[in-house]
Amino acid sequence: MNEHSYPDEQRAAVYRVIEERRDVRRGFRPDPVPPEVLTRVIAAAHRAPSVGFSQPWDFIVITDRGKRERIKALADRARADYAASLPGARALAFDRLKTEAILETPVNIVVTCDPTRGGRHTLGRHSQPQTAAYSSVLAVANLWLAARAEGLGVGWVSFFGERELAAELGLPAHLDVVAYLCLGYVTEFAPEPELATAGWGRRRPLAWSVHAEEFGRRGLPGQDATSLLDDVRAAIGPPDSAAMAAARERLDRMTKPPGSLGELEDVSVRLAGLAGCCPPPMPEPAAVAIFAGDHGAHAQRVTPWPQEVTAQMVANFLAGGAVVNAFAAQAGAEVVVVDVGVRAELDHVPGLLPRKIAPGTADFTAGPAMTRDQAEAAIAVGVEVARDLVAAGNRCLLTGDMGIANTTASAALVCAFTGRDAGEVTGRGTGIDDETYARKVDVVSRGLARHQPDPADPVGVLAAFGGFEHAALAGFILGAAALRTPVILDGMIAGSAALAAAALAPGVTGCCLAGHRSAEPGHAATLDHLGLRPLIDLGLRLGEGTGALLALPIAASAVRALREVATFDSAGVTDKG
Ligand SMILES: Cc1cc2nc3c(=O)[nH]c(=O)nc-3n(C[C@H](O)[C@H](O)[C@H](O)COP(=O)(O)O)c2cc1C
Repeated sequence: MNEHSYPDEQRAAVYRVIEERRDVRRGFRPDPVPPEVLTRVIAAAHRAPSVGFSQPWDFIVITDRGKRERIKALADRARADYAASLPGARALAFDRLKTEAILETPVNIVVTCDPTRGGRHTLGRHSQPQTAAYSSVLAVANLWLAARAEGLGVGWVSFFGERELAAELGLPAHLDVVAYLCLGYVTEFAPEPELATAGWGRRRPLAWSVHAEEFGRRGLPGQDATSLLDDVRAAIGPPDSAAMAAARERLDRMTKPPGSLGELEDVSVRLAGLAGCCPPPMPEPAAVAIFAGDHGAHAQRVTPWPQEVTAQMVANFLAGGAVVNAFAAQAGAEVVVVDVGVRAELDHVPGLLPRKIAPGTADFTAGPAMTRDQAEAAIAVGVEVARDLVAAGNRCLLTGDMGIANTTASAALVCAFTGRDAGEVTGRGTGIDDETYARKVDVVSRGLARHQPDPADPVGVLAAFGGFEHAALAGFILGAAALRTPVILDGMIAGSAALAAAALAPGVTGCCLAGHRSAEPGHAATLDHLGLRPLIDLGLRLGEGTGALLALPIAASAVRALREVATFDSAGVTDKG
């Protein structure tokens, strides 16, 4: 408190309006908004800060029904295009959402931006032209808050082709549409965003967004800053034994012979323990994250595939042409591709998360594959991707990977963490002849001899052998475990990354389901070490996330059974004597 701060009650009102402002799309009342109220909220918008005091906004107030009907038709088209782009479980959830109230509200306001206003020398805009649009957004924020204080609901609609809408509004060519807002009195303001209540997304904790001094050192003011890795390790807890007991008890009361769902019973018990409730939520929507990177050990001729194939397959994933895309479409899961270390410049297209640490690792037979800092940075990428996917509403994460030569790095990791020999765990990957296989085993052995890995130093082991996708996958699994979200592991690459994750935080296996058992010999050893039983065993050896995707409906079925199957007492079925 100082001499300039507002009295307590007024300060409380400011924070209250910020807290209680909502995007509103339903429950509008037909009463008109009096002109003086409308003028007050627009005047509040006009008070917004702007770059170089350029005040780039204009406000177009629309009440005409015919015009609103034409605009609604534009929004309906954009909505349909968006709906068509969604994976299965998302599309179903989206169908239930209301995204606009163009006709239900008595008045619509369009906020525009003139990026040329204020002239060529507008202070601050010369180096950041986008600050013009930011300024108009601040006008929207003022309007939204003032409207809330007036008891007016506001819904922001952005389902438009911007130029189509501009044409309908008669905007001069140099003006951009920033916001289309629907205003009206409402029956209530929901306490939380509708998208949160509907499970479409979750509010990100404040601590995820606050960094001390430099990006990555998370910490609220007055608290000690922590690294992402320390943060998630501290957050990983044991399974909830009460929820597990409840699941076991329910499984025994379900209208089926006890134990007759075999492994699935164990899956549903574990998922209940992870979620901390019985029954646990359905593992949907689900997303598979394909972490892609290249490997310096490729130079040792451990595979006949050229290194360019990594980038080419990434392009294939993004174009929807790979097996993982077909399986994801079948399972209704979203596909995300993360470039953590591909040795090529990749175009930034939707679906690709550009998070390159370096263009490929170094050859681990000659030195460490990556520096410790790089390994930690890749782990952080994985944690962030897991957090983002969970915050975006996903209730199950699946691991995917792409990296020519990554079974070689995986074999080295498996040896380092399980103590097995190179000859025992090294496999033929994509399919290699005897000579290449012998060379591959030798490469793994030489790497182990050179680095003398210490499994008690998992970051050091990851740095020694790589790849970037392994480190990122370890972070991805840790990030999911910290959020008590199930992860379905794909094969050998994911398994070796899970060994690193488990070495960093033993509790991590509580969130892991082994999607399948790969044909790679090291995978069985990996699953043994992790104490995981594979859900399927079909001799797959493709990677990409394909085995995890095939297992998703099995995990979902296990949960659905626990949620929906009647009990002997509820169904009036006689239990065995
Ligand atoms: C730039 C922007 C565009 C938006 N576009 C839409 C939209 O087209 N349809 C919709 O339903 N909500 C839209 N919203 C509203 C957000 O979904 C909403 O603000 C968010 O879920 C948080 O909820 P809250 O505003 O109630 O806190 C938009 C919000 C912003 C800031």
